[in-house]
Amino acid sequence: MTPRKILITAALPYANGDIHLGHMIEHIQTDIWVRFQKMMGNDAIFVCASDCHGTPIMLKAEEQGISPEALVTKMRERHIKDFKDFLIEFDNYYTTHSEESRQLTELIYEKLKTHGDIIRKIIKQTYDPIKDMFLPDRYVKGECPRCGAPDQYGDNCEKCGATYTPTELKNPKSVVSGTTPVQKESEHYFFDLPKYEHILKKWLHEKKHVQDAIAHKLEEWFTQGLKEWDISRDAPYFGFEIPDAPGKYFYVWLDAPIGYISSFKNLCDKRSDLNFKEYWNKNSQVELYHFIGKDILYFHTLFWPAILMGADLRTPDGVFVHGFLTVNGEKMSKSRGTFIMARKYLDHLNPEYFRYYIASKLGNHIEDVDLNLEDFKLKVNADLVGKVVNIASRCSSFIQKYFDQKLSSIETERELFNNFSQKGEDIAQFYEQREYSQAIREIMLLADWANQYINEKKPWLLIKEKNQEKNVQDICTVGLNLFRLLILYLKPVLPNLAQKTEIFLNIPPLIWEDHQKPLENDTINVFEPMIERIEQKQLDAIMGAVEI
Ligand code: 2FM
Ligand code: ZN
Repeated sequence: MTPRKILITAALPYANGDIHLGHMIEHIQTDIWVRFQKMMGNDAIFVCASDCHGTPIMLKAEEQGISPEALVTKMRERHIKDFKDFLIEFDNYYTTHSEESRQLTELIYEKLKTHGDIIRKIIKQTYDPIKDMFLPDRYVKGECPRCGAPDQYGDNCEKCGATYTPTELKNPKSVVSGTTPVQKESEHYFFDLPKYEHILKKWLHEKKHVQDAIAHKLEEWFTQGLKEWDISRDAPYFGFEIPDAPGKYFYVWLDAPIGYISSFKNLCDKRSDLNFKEYWNKNSQVELYHFIGKDILYFHTLFWPAILMGADLRTPDGVFVHGFLTVNGEKMSKSRGTFIMARKYLDHLNPEYFRYYIASKLGNHIEDVDLNLEDFKLKVNADLVGKVVNIASRCSSFIQKYFDQKLSSIETERELFNNFSQKGEDIAQFYEQREYSQAIREIMLLADWANQYINEKKPWLLIKEKNQEKNVQDICTVGLNLFRLLILYLKPVLPNLAQKTEIFLNIPPLIWEDHQKPLENDTINVFEPMIERIEQKQLDAIMGAVEI
């Protein structure tokens, strides 16, 4: 079969903050899928970038007394390191503050303009007269117009859930200067989204581009009616200036998804085997998938496909949406000490524990995923340490002590091996459909079965009997082959553990089709401990106050 060509993205993290475990579930979900595709022999490419523009980044830089450029460069380095240490393997992790991004954004804007998709309108907005800047909704605070709760943002009330505009707040104050904002007129550039309603509906219905729950949500939005989208912001703003409009900048959400394209473009410049047009032309046959959280659905399923259509580029084949991460059943919270930064986790715990736990709970749905710390410890210790790696440590000790590191064959248990091997087809399907929790369930059933086999055969007793050496060698060879298949099936989730196993078994990197062949008559290496149990004190250490 010819390999599939697939381009995959995860949402671009903002460059005003570090990566936390909430980001990480998406990147782990995506990384598992990419690694699985690569193991299948497909040409999968995973690109991402730091999302560098917008008011929060501009203000954060000011707060730190550095330029926004310096801030985003610094933050990108930190993002790269956190992701790398969580074993997220990008083909490229770029920046939206790049020349490629600027050119592509301008090009796309020009196309939209030529199509008559850009409308200019004068609108009134909240303005800080001290700071001399327009204020995004989140930068105005005041009393909720409905319930009167103090200190609420300009777009919605966290107390009663009301949504409104900043002008409706009582006693509004600018978060930046503390002054009372005023209303000021300015000309803005809008993308004519309503014009795309028909073709967006067609895009939605012609193929299963989104999960069913998402399709329902989109239907609701269509019923409510699409609105023109404001794609411009006034100076001061950190972003790309609109070419024909001095002092006006592209809104960060216009150039953010263009960052998917520019990251890929940047990769093409580094890899001669990639053809940019083949991936992005209107009629591209390459598969394109975006992994995102449910909070940025509107941008990815309405604005983004419409912009791509307007720019005569290809549209995504799928937008895969996941829920949020909760900790111990609640939204991550700084005050409860459950807002866990990636680095803090990494300082105390192995990233594969979290990858495994998340995989064991993730399906192709948009429900939130809960990190219950007690369950986390029990599951990782029971499954990875107790069930999986235990098989290798039990079997290898005999191979080392009595058989000079040599395996025999699996002939005595060919059927058992074949059963394990055939399960590879189902497990591959689960990965493909992003039903990781079902894949993990199948793998753990196999692990139980492998342990049961060893428990029944009792090599530790047999070895004490006369003339049973060959038998013991065969049992341990079977055990290690079953272990090898478990690790192969877990490899998209646990790449480090797989690598340690490859070294131990003295084999080349495992690919999916290896599940059909046993490992026989080979010499393996000495077994080294592969994974440790999670201790309560490690969990205590990752909880607690954080600065963001
Ligand atoms: O919501 C966010 O965190 C955005 N930075 C995601 C951008 S995804 C893409 F469109 F760039
Ligand atoms: Zn309220």
